[in-house]
Amino acid sequence: MRGRFITLEGGEGSGKSTLLKELAARLEAAGKTVVCTREPGGTALAESVRNLVLHPPAGQHWSPMAEALLMNTARTDHLEKLIRPALERGDWVLCDRFADSTRVYQSVSGGVSEDVLKLMEGFVVGETRPDMTLVLDAPVEAAAERREARAGTADTFEARGHEFHEKVRAAFLRIAQKEPARCVLIDASRPVDEVANAAWTAVQERLDIKAPATT
Ligand SMILES: Nc1ncnc2c1ncn2[C@@H]1O[C@H](COP(=O)(O)OP(=O)(O)O)[C@@H](O)[C@H]1O
Ligand SMILES: [Mg+2]
Repeated sequence: MRGRFITLEGGEGSGKSTLLKELAARLEAAGKTVVCTREPGGTALAESVRNLVLHPPAGQHWSPMAEALLMNTARTDHLEKLIRPALERGDWVLCDRFADSTRVYQSVSGGVSEDVLKLMEGFVVGETRPDMTLVLDAPVEAAAERREARAGTADTFEARGHEFHEKVRAAFLRIAQKEPARCVLIDASRPVDEVANAAWTAVQERLDIKAPATT
């Protein structure tokens, strides 16, 4: 049986990577084989593209169209070499960001038109749409504080201003509202365990997982 494909989306600092680990642990405890991955990236070639996109040479900037193509190039490799084979084996794939992030980041602030992005997504993703997408929503200020608390230097998207992050948040909210059959909106302003419990409940309900036996 084909495995399940779950994507985590939301702005920088909303808690995607943290939640991914929590969910993976619960799925494994429920007996699932879990593959954790991320975008852009997930394969050797896609990780090289990630570095090119998120950390372009000093003073250089990709246009939104070039960025969209690079994201989809990385996604193609990721789908071909990692995601589809894992799903065919019956594994559960948890992916930190996926196509919704391209819809959001490459269209905000005068980027690529949503129609063009949708066409690209159709070609690249095809039938491999996520079974479920957890959209993490938190106030921009809270996410910014978390990003600051986290070590490391800001990438090309993280480094943008408040207004940009507000637009990103609104765009993710719109996707969640427009596609309720796929998306679950999670209030990510709560403590980690509350966020994880809410997400886990949604996964169990929607993807029909029995709670692990307690003795
Ligand atoms: N629910 C939460 N409450 C408080 N801090 C959190 C929460 N979720 C994550 N964090 C912390 O905030 C920072 C950003 O979280 P992270 O999971 O890396 O976000 P993302 O992957 O969405 O950018 C990390 O330092 C993480 O430990
Ligand atoms: Mg992360």
